[in-house]
Amino acid sequence: MWSLIVVACSILGPSLALPEVSYPFNSQFPTVARVDNPYDFQLAPSSFAPVGDGVKYALSGAPVWLSIDSTTRRLQGTPKVNDVGVSMFRISATDSSGTASMDAMLFTVMDPPPGLGEDVSSQLAKTEKLSGPRTVPIRSGAQFDIKFSRNTFADDGSRKRYYATSKDRTPLPTWLKFTPETLGFTGRTPDTTGPPQEFMIILIASEIDGFEAASVNFTIAVSPHELVFDPWENNLRLRGESGSTRNIKNTLFLDGKVAVNSDISRLSVETPDWIKFDDGVFRAAGGIPSSIQETTINVLAEDRFGNRASCVVRVKVDKDKLGLFRNDIGPIDATIGEEFRYTFAQSLFTRPDVSVEIVLGSASSWLQFDPRTLTLHGKVPTGLEPSKIPVKLIASSSSNFEDEEKFHISL
Ligand SMILES: *[C@@H]1O[C@H](CO)[C@@H](O)[C@H](O)[C@H]1NC(C)=O
Repeated sequence: MWSLIVVACSILGPSLALPEVSYPFNSQFPTVARVDNPYDFQLAPSSFAPVGDGVKYALSGAPVWLSIDSTTRRLQGTPKVNDVGVSMFRISATDSSGTASMDAMLFTVMDPPPGLGEDVSSQLAKTEKLSGPRTVPIRSGAQFDIKFSRNTFADDGSRKRYYATSKDRTPLPTWLKFTPETLGFTGRTPDTTGPPQEFMIILIASEIDGFEAASVNFTIAVSPHELVFDPWENNLRLRGESGSTRNIKNTLFLDGKVAVNSDISRLSVETPDWIKFDDGVFRAAGGIPSSIQETTINVLAEDRFGNRASCVVRVKVDKDKLGLFRNDIGPIDATIGEEFRYTFAQSLFTRPDVSVEIVLGSASSWLQFDPRTLTLHGKVPTGLEPSKIPVKLIASSSSNFEDEEKFHISL
């Protein structure tokens, strides 16, 4: 194992001092090279420091298939079968004051690249509020505990090593602890006062010590204020030309309260011209192009403190079928340790003759559903952790047509 100690801090700007090795290649968890697959690994900007303007990077003694882009620091190339094995070479940085070089070691293997498994956004959204597809906002000075599933990486069996780094492959901030056994990130965010600060974290899985086979990333945004859309995803189901979303403006929360206009410095959406955004609600504006079946709209909001939050609206056009649900079922709140009761309105359905079934998932041990009164009831066990439980409502009409709607119960 190579030393993870960073010997010098990176100094920005032009310098007259000689470049030195600052952050060794093999401390950066470089990607494993794979036969017949293009290799692409960007060397950390802090690998050498100080470096002056116009610094150029080069390799010596590297396998012929591998080259480095002298300005972007990307190591690239495609190895062939007879390149399998270990390569030792040197990487150098040269600026007007001189040159520094470091040792590098790289593995080339036959195995195809591993795939990814369970989606990062949906994993995070199960327990956290999101301010972007993979961004978790956490208040300044707050404790946090973020866990990933072993299914984050497909075919996990062969990859028993997990690492985590910051963006640019540098070590994690000191306030963040990674536990490889649980794929958990815990800690307490710094006490920031100014504008939001974002920390990207890369979670790496590998079959080879100190290297990357696959990685995913997410971002922790630390700010004294929390701006989120809750829920983070919305549906616009268009049957024929009709359909609308819930009021998206009412799903934007600043510090836990629905954001008022004076909190928001910007709300931007880009919609195709056949969708209208009207005071928080998306709806079809007629003339849906026949080629369109699905599309996605991103909504971006910024508050007066500089926090940003985004949400997506997934548009599904269903031209033939008349759906059975008139609108989305939003998340339903339940309190841990308390009685819970919720009745679906008959007006949720587009027809009077529907019969309804429910798939309660992990809530089935404590929650019951009465299909006659369309009521959910039960006592939320005290031992449960705050989370979002996915539930599915299935409606069928007497003409044998079935439709379903997914939602969450938020604890
Ligand atoms: C972070 O993840 C996204 C989505 O998978 C990917 O496109 C991006 O390249 C990743 N960035 C880094 C620095 O790993």
